[in-house]
Amino acid sequence: MKAIILSGGKGTRLRPLTYSGAKQLVPVANKPILFYCIENIVQVGIKEIGIIISPETGQEIKDTVGDGSRWKVKIEYITQDMPGGLAHAIKTAREFLGGSSFVMYLGDNLIGTGIEKFVNDFNTNKPEALILLKEVDNPEQFGVAEVTEDKSVVRLIEKPKVPPSNLALVGIYIFSPKVHEAIEMIRPSERGELEITDAIQKLIETGSNVESFILDMWWLDTGKKDDMLTANAIVLDEWLTESIDASVDEESNILGRVSIAKGSEIINSKIRGPVVIGENTVVKDSFVGPYTSIGDNVTVVKSSVEHSVIMSGSELYDIERLEESLIGRKVKISQNSTRHKALRLLLGDDSVVEV
Ligand code: G1P
Repeated sequence: MKAIILSGGKGTRLRPLTYSGAKQLVPVANKPILFYCIENIVQVGIKEIGIIISPETGQEIKDTVGDGSRWKVKIEYITQDMPGGLAHAIKTAREFLGGSSFVMYLGDNLIGTGIEKFVNDFNTNKPEALILLKEVDNPEQFGVAEVTEDKSVVRLIEKPKVPPSNLALVGIYIFSPKVHEAIEMIRPSERGELEITDAIQKLIETGSNVESFILDMWWLDTGKKDDMLTANAIVLDEWLTESIDASVDEESNILGRVSIAKGSEIINSKIRGPVVIGENTVVKDSFVGPYTSIGDNVTVVKSSVEHSVIMSGSELYDIERLEESLIGRKVKISQNSTRHKALRLLLGDDSVVEV
C-alpha cells in the first residue's frame, strides 16, 4: 500500500497566515499539521508517500518535509498545476500510484487516533473504498453521507445545501485501484472541481463495495482559525509530554504539563500547563496560561497569554491579557507610550483585531 497526502490549496480560510506560507505547515502544539499526517501513515508501515503540492507553496513544503529519511520512508513530490479537486489530485498522482491500493490523506486534517484499524479492515475485507464519517454541526460545509438505519452508505453529496444527515466525510480515505476507473467517469462539479465525493458515489452506483466507519473520537479540519485553536488545545491536552530543557530561575513557577525546548529562558514568570514553548524563547515577568503554544525565538515580556498560538520570532511587550489568539511569525505587539489612548496598527490584508 502507498499513500498520498494532499498539500496544495490556497488556504483562504486561514488568511492572513497563508499569504506567507502553506496552511499544512501552520503549527499545532509547535509541530506542522502535515507532520501528524505523515506520522499516522508511517505508523501503519507504508514506505512510499507522494505529497501533492501546488506551484505556490510546494517549495516551502519540500524544504520543511524533505525526502522522508527523518521517518525512514521515501517521500516524492507531485505538482498539481491547478486546484482541480481531490479526484484531479489522484489523477495527477496516477503514475506514482501505479496498481497499488492507497491511503489518501488531506494534509490539513487531524484526527484523535492512528489509522491502523482502518488499514487493517481494508486489508481484510478488501472493499474498493473505505471512508470515515463524523457527526458535525455544519454538514453543509463538507461532503455528506446519506446512510440507512444500519449505517450503510447509500449516497454521498459534496456540500449539499440541504444535508441528508449530519455525517461529514473525513479527509482520510483508502482506495483500491478501481477508484481510477470511477474518476474517469465523473465530470467537474459546480465549483469546477473533480470531486472525490462524486468518484466514491460512482463506485457505489456501479456496485462496488464502499465501507464506512463512524469516527467516535475528535476530528478537526484545521483550515479555519477556531479549529486551529481547538486543535492546539486538544493536542496539548492529550499528547503533550513534560520536558524542560530550558533555564528556569528561582522566581518562576511551572505548574502542570509543560514542555520547554533548549536555549529558552523563563525569568520571574508563571507557566501553567498544558503549554509548549520552543527553542531560544524568552518569557520574562509574564504569565503563560493553559493551552498555549509558543514557537522558537519568541520574546514575551510583562504580558499574560493563554489559549493562544504564537509562532516563531514574535514579540509581546506589556500586553495585559491576550487570549484565543493566533499570532503569525515575526509579529510585534506592544503597548505604546503616548499619553492619549490610541491604537497604532500595521496589519496585513485579512488581519483580524478585536479590541
Ligand atoms: C474536502 C472534501 C469534503 C470533505 C473535506 C474534509 O473539502 O471535498 O468532502 O468533507 O475535505 O476536510 P474542502 O476542504 O475541499 O472544502
